[in-house]
Amino acid sequence: MEIQLVHLEETDSTNRVLKELAREGAPEGTLVVADRQTAGRGRLGRSFFSPDGGLYFSLLLRPALPSFDTTLITTAAAVAGARAVDAFAVARPDYAGPTQIKWVNDLYLRERKITGILAEGLAQGEAFSVVLGVGINILPPEGGFPADIAQKAGSVTLTRDTDISPSEMKSRLLALFIREFEALYEALPDKRYLNEYRERSMLTGKTVSYEKDGLPHRGTVLGIDDEAGLLLDEGGETVCLRAGEVSVAFE
Ligand code: BTN
Repeated sequence: MEIQLVHLEETDSTNRVLKELAREGAPEGTLVVADRQTAGRGRLGRSFFSPDGGLYFSLLLRPALPSFDTTLITTAAAVAGARAVDAFAVARPDYAGPTQIKWVNDLYLRERKITGILAEGLAQGEAFSVVLGVGINILPPEGGFPADIAQKAGSVTLTRDTDISPSEMKSRLLALFIREFEALYEALPDKRYLNEYRERSMLTGKTVSYEKDGLPHRGTVLGIDDEAGLLLDEGGETVCLRAGEVSVAFE
């Protein structure tokens, strides 16, 4: 994949910018990176806090795969992101890996979410594209995380005092991600990477809760199936979640 980099100091959302470029015919490999976002988008209509000190980017994919396989792309991105963070952080004194994946595609270190991934599909006539957006909190934000995410969010490094500059950190991490992701993406639909996804899965064996049709559910995570669905034991019955989000239930 030929990468064409567009660097912005500030934008509302790299996913929004890249979608616009995609509509204008930008090729696969177009990569929009921002130093900060004023309206970073998260999954399920949420926002993604995106101050200076993080890596925020969106990569344009024009897969030959049918659209229903977007899950393969996002789970491959989760594995690539986890590998990249580990390779980046392993030499640091505060390394706490291996990086774990919380189904579907959040990355966790020290039991804190350090990365979010939002893949958005775009149909143009017969053609289908995916805008793959990734946000990695590298440094702890100046002034800390906002109160609503302070208990959950974390960053790759524990301190803002680091031996290399933030921009050097961002370009290293970005290069590692692209290298890892490209290898997995080009091999799709080869699903062998799902074994690593399973090994990194932080939910396996845990009791989780979720809502379906307005009703609360609870189950124990059995694992991840071959379509990256979450397998749960709910009172003896095996249930598979294809999309959505679960929370770890505290007994
Ligand atoms: C989530 O955790 O719910 C997903 C967050 C995805 C954030 C990234 S940052 C770069 C790209 N641009 C956005 O507006 N969102 C994604």
